[in-house]
Amino acid sequence: MERLQKIIAAAGVASRRKCEELITSGAVEVNGKVVRELGTKADPTTDVIIVKGRRIASEKKIYVMMNKPKGVITSASDPKGRKIVSDFLTGIKERVYPVGRLDYDTEGLLLLTNDGEFANLLTHPSHHVPKTYLATVKGVPHGTALEKLQRGVKLEDGMTAPAEVDYHDIDMDSNSATVSITIYEGRNRQVRRMFDAVGHPVTRLKRIKFGHLGLDNMQRGKFRHLTLSEIKELRDAAHSHNSHKN
Ligand code: URA
Repeated sequence: MERLQKIIAAAGVASRRKCEELITSGAVEVNGKVVRELGTKADPTTDVIIVKGRRIASEKKIYVMMNKPKGVITSASDPKGRKIVSDFLTGIKERVYPVGRLDYDTEGLLLLTNDGEFANLLTHPSHHVPKTYLATVKGVPHGTALEKLQRGVKLEDGMTAPAEVDYHDIDMDSNSATVSITIYEGRNRQVRRMFDAVGHPVTRLKRIKFGHLGLDNMQRGKFRHLTLSEIKELRDAAHSHNSHKN
């Protein structure tokens, strides 16, 4: 038996939060009865679960990585008609959701899955899964600026946790530098705000690693399915960086 919102989210209907809204709004039936209680449990293999008139099937779990181009939005839809990540996932009929987000202007490694539990595991703030970015910034930051980023900087939502920071490339001609930064958190626009805090605004941002998984030479806009060992490695990364085991 599992919680209804978990079953519905796992079937790829919508995010966990949206599924809770579906339940409380009376759009979900279990064995012919409308269920509005969020704590209700059901057995996805034997109960007949109907959402907005359609029976849900337990869907095959899929795990994908893509190289998101900049100028693409990570949401499932965009009222302004901008490109969305699923436009790039040709041939994938399952409804997948991004694991965390990348800004519209950020490119690079994005994971997508219909496994809500996997997504939560990797994005839960207490799991501290490392994410590495290449940030091209205005000006060439001094070593002291990088040290500050490494130790933690004060943002409006609090101090950032220790990060790993190093020079990747320095371009004296254009007075800019590319810095690699690994963070263990995932706050909104975090990397951009961190570099703003040390006076070096980001002009280009690319995520090159998620856990141990690297973007490598995947072309922009392309995607591939993860291997079983990559999925396991990502799960392990969430467990090994979990500081609040219970
Ligand atoms: N940090 C940012 O500033 N933007 C992203 O898209 C990801 C991390």
